[in-house]
Parts: sequence; structure tokens; C-alpha cells
Amino acid sequence: MLRLFVFLMPARVYAPTPHNLRLLAAALKRGELVAMPTETVYGLAAHALDIRACRRIFTAKRRPDHDPLIVHVTDLRAAEALAEFNDAARVIARHFWPGPLTLVLPKKKIVPGIVTSGQDTVALRSPAHPLARRLLKLSGLPLAAPSANLFGYVSPTTAEHVRLGLGTRIKHILDGGPCRVGVESTIVAVSPAGELRVLRPGAISGPELLAVLRRAGLKARLARRKSSSAVLAPGLLDQHYSPHTPLTITSHITAAQKKSAGTDIALIFQQKPDASGRNIFFFSAAGELSDAAHNLYSVLRQTDAGKFARIIVEAAPKNDGALAAAINDRLTRAAGKRK
Ligand code: TXA
Ligand code: MG
Repeated sequence: MLRLFVFLMPARVYAPTPHNLRLLAAALKRGELVAMPTETVYGLAAHALDIRACRRIFTAKRRPDHDPLIVHVTDLRAAEALAEFNDAARVIARHFWPGPLTLVLPKKKIVPGIVTSGQDTVALRSPAHPLARRLLKLSGLPLAAPSANLFGYVSPTTAEHVRLGLGTRIKHILDGGPCRVGVESTIVAVSPAGELRVLRPGAISGPELLAVLRRAGLKARLARRKSSSAVLAPGLLDQHYSPHTPLTITSHITAAQKKSAGTDIALIFQQKPDASGRNIFFFSAAGELSDAAHNLYSVLRQTDAGKFARIIVEAAPKNDGALAAAINDRLTRAAGKRK
């Protein structure tokens, strides 16, 4: 009875005071879930070596157990306790951590199978957000943290997004304001021979990773992403990050589309258009990609809340670097076939 009552209590949203941070670190040590800000999106954190705590993540998010979790650590040293690093992985971690970069490497025994969905690799990232770092330091734990949303829905980039999705399913939400980057980390698998396979595009591109390895005097090359990434990153489904409203992507919203949209169809532009109206949305006032990534999920959620029959969204420009690729990856999945 008491359990049920606790479960139904709405989540508490905590301001990031030193007292609250200590309290939340203690909750993590007890195996409880804490939604925390990172520089990419909010994560739903749990003690990564505590199987019951990790199971709570899957339950709270309604996440299928074949979708592995990313483990967050303070630094390379903490990461090396969990995975077998090769030289290339070490160079990448030293250069890009803390930051929006996740490394997939062979796991050590200590990492429970629930974290990796039974695979022999683990995904690791050292986040740059000062509050995520405070929780890592104060708890002294590696923290498993997927995005803090119900499985399949648009990722959260504010504490309010987390509350709207998980507010009756978790107890603790740490409010760190809006996330700076706005799209999830780049995920890359690094083989000992220096072969890089980007499994999910993010703010850091494959060529950037390559350049850093080559500057360090290592042989490195990029593997094709498409071939077997479905097997390598089992959580990367064709449909994900999806609003409830059906969504289609176009490279450019035409004047004819604008005219025929009426007020029933929402239009999302990359850059602020001349027109305005309740169905007109945009990702960036000035057409900046960093702005577009930062606002991507907020705008999708706002549009979804408008109860439109359909959403038509403009893609970011093709071949315009890592953020454009990440935005288009998320938009493509948001539009993906419903299963
Ligand atoms: O920016 C981010 O990465 C955010 C913040 C909270 O850190 N986290 C995040 O987690 O996006 P999530 O659960 O939404 O996405 C994790 C994805 C999985 O769906 C899967 O594709 C991939 O990471 N992944 C995890 N472990 C893996 C592994 N061992 N091998 C391959 N892919 C893995
Ligand atoms: Mg996610």
C-alpha cells in the first residue's frame, strides 16, 4: 500500500542547491532513480552496478530490455574500470571528454548484463554538464542514464519535459535549466585497429574523431555506418524520438504547402519564416544549426501539444556537418514507420 502511494506521488523537482545535490546523490546510492540534466538531454540516472536500480530505469521508461544503457562516468580512469580501452579509444576520451561523445567498448565483468542488454560491449560517456558531474562525484558511482522520457517519445531537454513524461513514474528530478546541445551524444564503436563506426550521429562528427586519432599518430579509418549498425546499436530503431502527431519531412516547405496547410497542419521551418500563425513553428530565428539542435525537441513537443492533424517539418541542410546530420537523423526517426 505504502509502495503504491509512493509510486503515485508526483515527482519532486529539485533546485540545484548543495543540500539537494547531496540528497540526490544519497538517493542514487540507495538504488533510486534521479532525472538529471546533461549537456545533451536529460538522463534518467541509476547506480549502474546495481541490477535492481537499472531494472527500475526500464520499468519507469517502459523501455524494452533489448535497448542497452549508456553509463556515465567522471573521467577516463573511472571508465577504464568498466571497459577494455584500446589506444584509439583512450586518445578519443582524452580529447573529447567531458563532452557529448559515447564510446562503445568491450565491457569488463563488473558491468551487469542488464546495462548492456546482454552484449559484451558497454557504452560509456563522461558528461560535461556541471550538475551531472556533481552527482557523479558526490555519489562516487558510475551512472547508467538513458534519456529521461517514455520510450519512443521525444527526448527531454528541460526538467518540465521530464515531469510531463515521467512525473508520476519517478520521484526525483534535478532542474538544471535547458540542455545546451539539445541532441544526444555521438555514439562510436572503436576497434583496437582504429576502425571507427559511428552508431548514432551527434555534435561530434566521424571526420573530427579521425582527425584527432591521426594527429596522435594512430592509424584510423571510418567504417560505413549503415551495414550492421542495427545489430551493433540495438536501440536505434527506425521509429524513435516521435511526437504523437504523424510527422513528415521535406527538404524545403514550399509556398504551395504553406497555402494548403490551413490551420490543421503544423509547419516547422528550420529558420524563422516571414509568415506567422498558430500552426507556424521554427527551430532557429537566425538559421543557426546550434540553435536548431538546442530547440529541436522543445519545438517538436510544442507542436505535438497543438493537436494538429499532421506535422510537416523541414530537414536541416544536407552535408552541413555533424549537427545537421544529427538533427536529420532524429527527424527521420521521428517520422519513421510506426511498428
Ligand atoms: O546524450 C546522450 O547520450 C544521452 C544522455 C542522457 O547522456 N543518453 C542517451 O541514452 O541518449 P539513450 O538510452 O536514449 O540512448 C542510448 C543508446 C541505445 O539506444 C543504443 O542504441 C546505444 O545507446 N547503446 C548503448 N549501449 C550500447 C552498446 N553496448 N552497443 C551499442 N550501442 C549501445
Ligand atoms: Mg533515448
